[in-house]
Amino acid sequence: MYRVSANLFRWAILYPVFCQLVSSSRLEPANPFPPPTLHPKSQGLDGIFDNLERDFQDAASNRSSPWLTDITSFSVAVTSTTQTLWTTSYTAPILGNYSNGPPTTMSDQSYFRIASISKVFTVLAILLQEKAGNCSLRDPISRHVPELNERVGADPHTAEWDSITLETLASQLSGIPREYGQCDLTDPLTDRVYHFDDPVDIGLPPVDDSDVPPCGRNRPGTRPCSRKEILDGLMKLPPSFEPNYKATYSNLAFVLLGFALENMTGLEYADVIRSSIFDPLGMERASLARPPDTEGIIPSLPNDWNVDVGTYGSTGGIYTTASDLALFARSVLAKKLLDTTTTNAWFHPRSFSSSWSFAYGMPWEIFRTSDMLPDSDRIQTIFTKGGALNGYFSQLLLIPEYNLGLVVLVAGDGHATRWLREKVLKLLIPAVEQIARDQAASKLSGSYMSNDATINSSTTFEVSGSRGLVLTSWLSNGTDFLAQYGHMSNPRRKRGHVQLTPSNVSRGKNSEVWRAAYVLDELLPSDEIVNANLIVDVDILSYASRSLEEFVFELDDSGRATKVTLPGFRITLDRQADREALDAFVRLREPMKPLGSTY
Ligand SMILES: *[C@@H]1O[C@H](CO)[C@@H](O)[C@H](O)[C@H]1NC(C)=O
Ligand SMILES: *[C@@H]1O[C@H](CO)[C@@H](O)[C@H](O)[C@H]1NC(C)=O
Ligand SMILES: *[C@@H]1O[C@H](CO)[C@@H](O)[C@H](O)[C@H]1NC(C)=O
Ligand SMILES: *[C@@H]1O[C@H](CO)[C@@H](O)[C@H](O)[C@H]1NC(C)=O
Ligand SMILES: *[C@@H]1O[C@H](CO)[C@@H](O)[C@H](O)[C@H]1NC(C)=O
Ligand SMILES: *[C@@H]1O[C@H](CO)[C@@H](O)[C@H](O)[C@H]1NC(C)=O
Ligand SMILES: *[C@@H]1O[C@H](CO)[C@@H](O)[C@H](O)[C@H]1NC(C)=O
Repeated sequence: MYRVSANLFRWAILYPVFCQLVSSSRLEPANPFPPPTLHPKSQGLDGIFDNLERDFQDAASNRSSPWLTDITSFSVAVTSTTQTLWTTSYTAPILGNYSNGPPTTMSDQSYFRIASISKVFTVLAILLQEKAGNCSLRDPISRHVPELNERVGADPHTAEWDSITLETLASQLSGIPREYGQCDLTDPLTDRVYHFDDPVDIGLPPVDDSDVPPCGRNRPGTRPCSRKEILDGLMKLPPSFEPNYKATYSNLAFVLLGFALENMTGLEYADVIRSSIFDPLGMERASLARPPDTEGIIPSLPNDWNVDVGTYGSTGGIYTTASDLALFARSVLAKKLLDTTTTNAWFHPRSFSSSWSFAYGMPWEIFRTSDMLPDSDRIQTIFTKGGALNGYFSQLLLIPEYNLGLVVLVAGDGHATRWLREKVLKLLIPAVEQIARDQAASKLSGSYMSNDATINSSTTFEVSGSRGLVLTSWLSNGTDFLAQYGHMSNPRRKRGHVQLTPSNVSRGKNSEVWRAAYVLDELLPSDEIVNANLIVDVDILSYASRSLEEFVFELDDSGRATKVTLPGFRITLDRQADREALDAFVRLREPMKPLGSTY
């Protein structure tokens, strides 16, 4: 009866729901506010979490929900950089086969298989090896998997191993084939996924046994492929693309990275991940070995709970819990194991895709959307990794703009994953954005004046809805510099405003540097192919070697600005304490309405 909706890692990529062509009527600078500080009881969030709790529990057992509710369990967690903000779990009334007794109570401490999310751990382990000086991302894979040296040049039809680097493998740019020893139609389990018994029934020719992989990830009666079998098998497969031509998903790439880690460290993959990631972060419930059945969620449909993925561990082998994966998410966001520069670099795409809204990172599946905020066309970026094994569907989402992480683990019918993810994003993001705006307003908005009575200089900042931190008045020694700046930055006199965006740079303790830019209220329709108006750069105007667009806020111990220095103007202005000025910021008085309520 149950339709297995996916095999192995096939659905490892999120359903492309954010695929709207970007068509902003104005160009809104990305990341207009610093990530907000969030608590479970932050005003505006508590109500959202109550609603989500109610909706999730209702939907979990509602037969009208778009998944098989009888057999589908899930565990969901939302985290900031410091703590889990909300978590909820649901246990299906019908569970699968438990070998050693009934399951313990389901919670965010229950184990699921996270499948291809394991790739994020493999990449992080490589980055940590690089940090330790044991490798460089630019190293050819053949340097760390010595067997490949013997194959260089051996067969013109196989990959050019000395030009395939650790980085191209980690970012899906290696061009090597996707699979060996799994997802092959000679595998009866794979055939079941596609609803036939024998490949010959769908018109495929009979094949020699010698062409059938001798091992498999879940072929009945076989064992996982050994390192040698994988490498021998790989040699028979021509590459899909040449290296760096364009990205295409490969599990074999991550199998090779797993081998490389073993060679670099002299440890087994499981021990590399445990000693370099699980242990340092305190992920106590995370493992490459199968946990006791009673600790996990085993769904009542053919599933891979028991499957030893062997050499495929580095591409999809990890078992963990929503709680520990949330801990992992916040550790990445908080840059616990990697320094800021390396983490920033990790959050950049490595290649475009055929879609405007999707790019491959390392191994992030990066989605961009302008659909998350009801009052803004701003493009926002979500770094994700999806995973699927039979019976298990998982997603990890990071939104660095808000320092927010989301974990969705499903055992049962994978259609639940998408619904749960969308529901959280659509309810939560507008609320978090509102908090970011309010915090920026309270921290910075208002008037700042020179305390030297002979200099008539001042600025006023307002948080103006989706426009971010807007400079609404700017006097320099009696001159209206806001108008002057407009003339210089916007010679064609289009309607616009001066917006400040954070730079995440400080000048000394308790300070924050922001940068101003002239932002047009509306982009005029353009038939230009190369439309340079779509580029927003900063620091265009300088005066005697200093930027005129730099604003350095000095903060007190509570994090509120007390002064702003304008280096180009050689002046520091004091924040004015009067209520009126502090309240000057205009923001939406009504909290933003969540996006459409039908999914
Ligand atoms: C079940 O879902 C349907 C469709 O979304 C909805 O109309 C109905 O009210 C729900 N029932 C319960 C008990 O939540
Ligand atoms: C690296 O891999 C090769 C081939 O498996 C092996 O002979 C060698 O001992 C490995 N080195 C380490 C340090 O694991
Ligand atoms: C770097 O490699 C050496 C030698 O293989 C190993 O002993 C060490 O643990 C590695 N460093 C890290 C951080 O794993
Ligand atoms: C559970 O075990 C029974 C008896 O061994 C078997 O018939 C059934 O197929 C199993 N169900 C699943 C979902 O593995
Ligand atoms: C302010 O303006 C006056 C009059 O133009 C000028 O003499 C003076 O140098 C200016 N001072 C500063 C600090 O800008
Ligand atoms: C400062 O300059 C503005 C604009 O020129 C002017 O309206 C205002 O009266 C001046 N204030 C003082 C105290 O001189
Ligand atoms: C830069 O970003 C990090 C992470 O969000 C934050 O902890 C830090 O305070 C920021 N620094 C500044 C100067 O904004």
